[in-house]
Amino acid sequence: MQLTKEEKAMLDGAQGRATQKSMEILTTLGRIYDAERFIPVTSVQIAGVSYANLGEAGLAFLDEMADGDGRARVLTTLNPAGMDMENWQNLGISAEFAENQMRVLDAFARMNVITTATCTPYLIGNTPHFGERIAWAESSAVCYANSVLGARSNREGGPSALAASLTGLTPEYGYHLDAYRQPTLKVNIEGLQGENTDFGALGKVLGEKLEAISGRRVPYLWGIEAASVENLKSFCASVATYGGVTLFHMQGITPEAGQMLPPDEQITITAAEIHLARESMIDATSDEIDFVSLGCPHLSIKEIARIAELLAEKTVTKEFWITTARPTKEIADRMGYTAVIEAAGAKFAADTCCVVAPIKGRFNALATDSAKACYYAYSKNKFKTALVPFDEVVQIALQD
Ligand code: F3S
Repeated sequence: MQLTKEEKAMLDGAQGRATQKSMEILTTLGRIYDAERFIPVTSVQIAGVSYANLGEAGLAFLDEMADGDGRARVLTTLNPAGMDMENWQNLGISAEFAENQMRVLDAFARMNVITTATCTPYLIGNTPHFGERIAWAESSAVCYANSVLGARSNREGGPSALAASLTGLTPEYGYHLDAYRQPTLKVNIEGLQGENTDFGALGKVLGEKLEAISGRRVPYLWGIEAASVENLKSFCASVATYGGVTLFHMQGITPEAGQMLPPDEQITITAAEIHLARESMIDATSDEIDFVSLGCPHLSIKEIARIAELLAEKTVTKEFWITTARPTKEIADRMGYTAVIEAAGAKFAADTCCVVAPIKGRFNALATDSAKACYYAYSKNKFKTALVPFDEVVQIALQD
């Protein structure tokens, strides 16, 4: 890997210990993936923020970087933390966990990282443009940035994303290169409906099919007539979870699709397959559901407005978490949506989500519209699940 004079000096420690350590991480990655050089990045998203995932070892690493003069050189935001930073007591988070989570956020703040914790940074101002070089972690957001925005990112881990932030650099390989962004498989889609659950179920079907194929996976989806931002964020979360997809193209919808020809090799996903996938994420009966959550990935303001409309002058009967980014919640506050939602007994869980919060053992069964949330509710927290359309999730929260 060719390093410039300045990059060599950074690696030799001329700009402090955190920069040096970051360069060590990044040059190691670059050598593994045969990168020829570093390229500048303008935006970073760091995952691995919950103290439940980091533990003391992860926190010690962050402290070491902060103490070693590590400072973000580019716009850097955080993935969800393990709790709502303001409302954690109301969500049943222990004081001990809250204290440790705040130590994590303090370490990031010392590095000038923006401590807004969300997996939809593209909805709140960390919004790269077409072709922009970025270094993001969080699989759903990387997939969205690459595919829907046309930015260029590999799927970073927590340490490599932090290293990119503290240096403003990333090794040039993988999805930064034109050749790597070419589609590998045409996927004909039949009979897709417009609910987030349909897009999530499609992500599961496609992801599982791609899992069986070795090598690079860049599907070119054909035959989808329309997709909202909310549909696309659901699809990204699902196809990244079930199939490790980092980039897809969607005919007539994503920006690079028109510049590329679909490959000859093709498969078809039918409406029946999508229906079956949706059914496969329902194993809870309505009597068993004791936890309801919307916001995986974090909710847009449009979705919160809809929840307020559905909950107006009603009372929920189950624990109901509304997960979103803090700035989105602040818009909801201003619009009066928060007051309506909280009057109904539902709870905002900003900065966090039903997957990264430490809630294992607290509930039996989750109702959600998110295929990704179903995957982790089962695999991480051992909850049963019910994947149902957005409005029906709210109706379940209201049922006796
Ligand atoms: Fe976001 Fe948590 Fe889902 S990080 S994509 S809301 S699992």
